Amino acid sequence: MCGIIGFAGREQAAPILLDGLARMEYRGYDSAGIAVRSEAKGLQVKKAKGRLQVLSDLTHGGADLEGTLGIGHTRWATHGEPNDINAHPHVSENGRIALVHNGIIENYLEIKEQLQRHGVKFTSDTDSEVVAQLLEFHYNECHNMLEAVGRVLRRIQGSYAFGIICSDYPNALIAARKDSPLILGYGENGNYIASDVTAIIKHTRDVVYMEDGEIAVVTAENIDVFDSEMNPLEKKHSQVDWDVSAAEKGGYAHFMFKEIMEQPEAVRKTLSPRVRDGRVVLDDVKLTAEYVKNISRIFIIACGSSYHVGMVSKYSWERLLRRPVQVDLASEFRYSDPLVDENTLVIVISQSGETLDTMAAMREAKSRGARTLAVVNVVGSSIAREADDVLYTWAGPEIAVATTKAYTTQLVLMDLIGLYLADLLGTVEKSEYDAILAEMQVLPEKMRRLLEHFEDVQYFASRYFNHNSIFFIGRNLDYAMGLEGSLKLKEISYIHSEAYASGELKHGTISLIEPGTLVVALGTYAALFDKAMSNVVEVKARGAEVLAVTTETFKEKMEKTADSTIVVPDTHPILQPSLGVVPLQLFAYYVALQRGCDIDKPRNLAKSVTVE
Ligand code: F6R
Repeated sequence: MCGIIGFAGREQAAPILLDGLARMEYRGYDSAGIAVRSEAKGLQVKKAKGRLQVLSDLTHGGADLEGTLGIGHTRWATHGEPNDINAHPHVSENGRIALVHNGIIENYLEIKEQLQRHGVKFTSDTDSEVVAQLLEFHYNECHNMLEAVGRVLRRIQGSYAFGIICSDYPNALIAARKDSPLILGYGENGNYIASDVTAIIKHTRDVVYMEDGEIAVVTAENIDVFDSEMNPLEKKHSQVDWDVSAAEKGGYAHFMFKEIMEQPEAVRKTLSPRVRDGRVVLDDVKLTAEYVKNISRIFIIACGSSYHVGMVSKYSWERLLRRPVQVDLASEFRYSDPLVDENTLVIVISQSGETLDTMAAMREAKSRGARTLAVVNVVGSSIAREADDVLYTWAGPEIAVATTKAYTTQLVLMDLIGLYLADLLGTVEKSEYDAILAEMQVLPEKMRRLLEHFEDVQYFASRYFNHNSIFFIGRNLDYAMGLEGSLKLKEISYIHSEAYASGELKHGTISLIEPGTLVVALGTYAALFDKAMSNVVEVKARGAEVLAVTTETFKEKMEKTADSTIVVPDTHPILQPSLGVVPLQLFAYYVALQRGCDIDKPRNLAKSVTVE
């Protein structure tokens, strides 16, 4: 989604802003812009619809805009179509104030009408321009920028991260946040603001996470942070341990492929510090055994692929914990008057830690007394900071919009948590506990071996990429895994695809199977393999072409019936989806490649969905 960067320093700002925006391209955007202030020229603003390259060409890589203070933005349209005018920064009517904004101002229409009654003229359709104009209005009253910002924040409702510069203030930019991430970065050549740490990691790892309601004044020498009453605050600094190279392609054609290949290492990083002397050790969680014993119900709440992780966990956790586990889409849960109380454990899964619906669902659960445990990848993100407990997946930065390594690390972390809770509850046999842990230790190696055969999947992709509609079928954990396989395929290749629990086929979907329809049949779940085979026979009898995914154990049987078979290593059943999903990711990748799609930045999608 939208990205913000700001710089106040001792170097030319524009190239830094453009570079920071480029590093946030993965978040998804449809237009971009920068504003730079210089003594000679005052505020200079350049905006352009489309790829960042257009903006870069327009400004000769930033060389045309002189000045060491500036803000930049990549926009993902919400209010008003993507075009040059609606792109940020927005400038107030007298041209003195420029502002970039992430989030949504809910009462913007009312404010706009009020300002129009005072004769203010608007140029864009955006809610963000309203804030720029309101700032000018208050600044004209009080002649103090910080005071004007305070007045505006008291007036607006909704979510925001702002970066603001004013031509009367040659050295300072102002930042403010509520429900939208914003980070302050302390660099050698100046200081930064950014909505995403990847934008500034090249320049600094020394950061401060802004909290809701805070305002910061950033100059080349200093950053002052205030609370909403303008009281100065002492903020805790954090060190970002992500490496710059982790956010670069490093010779791979696409981030998605690189991230698929990084999975063994990412899974190892997530697992190994948490398994010690044959036990799961979750040092970071404060759940007591007594609390866990009183849990009557568990909710798992998430969106998209993170929700699919929840679907996998429902099957494995109910098996391990013998407690009801309900998986809800965050966007549904938050408005469902949910039945949660202090005996409900709510697990929130979010790669970015910023997904608005997931955040709102978590707040809803907390307000009803539930304890929340968040599984998050981005350290210091909003969900991570608000949850009662947080466990990080150590996947490193994930740049491709379609998640891969964040998904698999979520899966294995959920397996660990499930095992940990089952142990506290006494619902898992020691032999089963030991068997799962032993298999977890060798999972990264099995994944690595599996990835060595990526070319097999490439071959199948070249055989099937022309299909226009593809079905994924499976039972139990295979069904949950199929949901993710299907999403991966449709989001990056734009092929229509659906995932079904195989047993449901006969209740409607089978009418869509006709000669030549491609069915991806998932048969890795040993306990129901024979049933999975029956469904393969069933769709074959109706003319379907079947691409199967199965384990070494069932390879021979499957090969007799399916048209094509991909084989993954055997492991403990609850870990099987972590291996089974890998060829599905590769299949989606190669199909999209064959179809010439923009793999890392699929149309209409954003990496971090910070609006409803
Ligand atoms: C799909 C994908 C999305 C995210 C969803 C939730 O590849 O990445 O479906 O899983 O937008 O995002 P997070 O996990 O950041 O809350």
